[in-house]
Amino acid sequence: MIDGTKLGQLKGDPNTRCRVYEYDNNKICKLYTNSINYDNERDIYLLLKDCDFIPKLYDYNDDGRYLIIERLMCPSVADSNPVLPETFKEDLKYIEQFLLDKGIWNRADRFKAEHIFLDKPERSKETHGVRIIDFDTDSIYPSDSPNYNDEYNWHNKNFDKDFDDAYRQFLLENGLM
Ligand SMILES: Nc1ncnc2c1ncn2[C@@H]1O[C@H](COP(=O)(O)OP(=O)(O)O)[C@@H](O)[C@H]1O
Ligand SMILES: [Mg+2]
Repeated sequence: MIDGTKLGQLKGDPNTRCRVYEYDNNKICKLYTNSINYDNERDIYLLLKDCDFIPKLYDYNDDGRYLIIERLMCPSVADSNPVLPETFKEDLKYIEQFLLDKGIWNRADRFKAEHIFLDKPERSKETHGVRIIDFDTDSIYPSDSPNYNDEYNWHNKNFDKDFDDAYRQFLLENGLM
């Protein structure tokens, strides 16, 4: 079992839902105080385990409510003077469409500069190195719900406009336009 007090805490807003610790050189440990946030994030990491645009999940423990995750060793958009790839908008759009197609359309923490990382292109080829973190307040819409198709079609129909609005807002908020 992990004892967070024995690990160094990483930067990030302190909150009551979870803490992020340095685990070893290239891993972090994300420890949750309640099972809703733990379950959300674990389920999304498991569903997306073959995607390079999220960090690799190395291990998890349901009793201890923690995940051991690849530590991204690259700047995020929140770091000073981020160098965005020319394809940045397309890369984010690819990620959002991918998540939508997996039933992840209520992303509370999407489009936050500190959650979007700019890694080497070869680490996530489909997105030219753009990688994202933090899914503990997101959820996967149950694919067996009778409303799934209607909900999906509604989100998909509005996708281009929703994306453009959110992207523009993100650029403005971060002084990137
Ligand atoms: N896999 C990771 N690699 C590098 N830094 C990370 C990683 N996960 C979290 N962090 C750092 O810790 C901060 C808090 O993590 P986050 O997952 O956003 O937790 P919270 O749910 O508390 O917002 C992030 O903004 C980032 O600076
Ligand atoms: Mg966060």
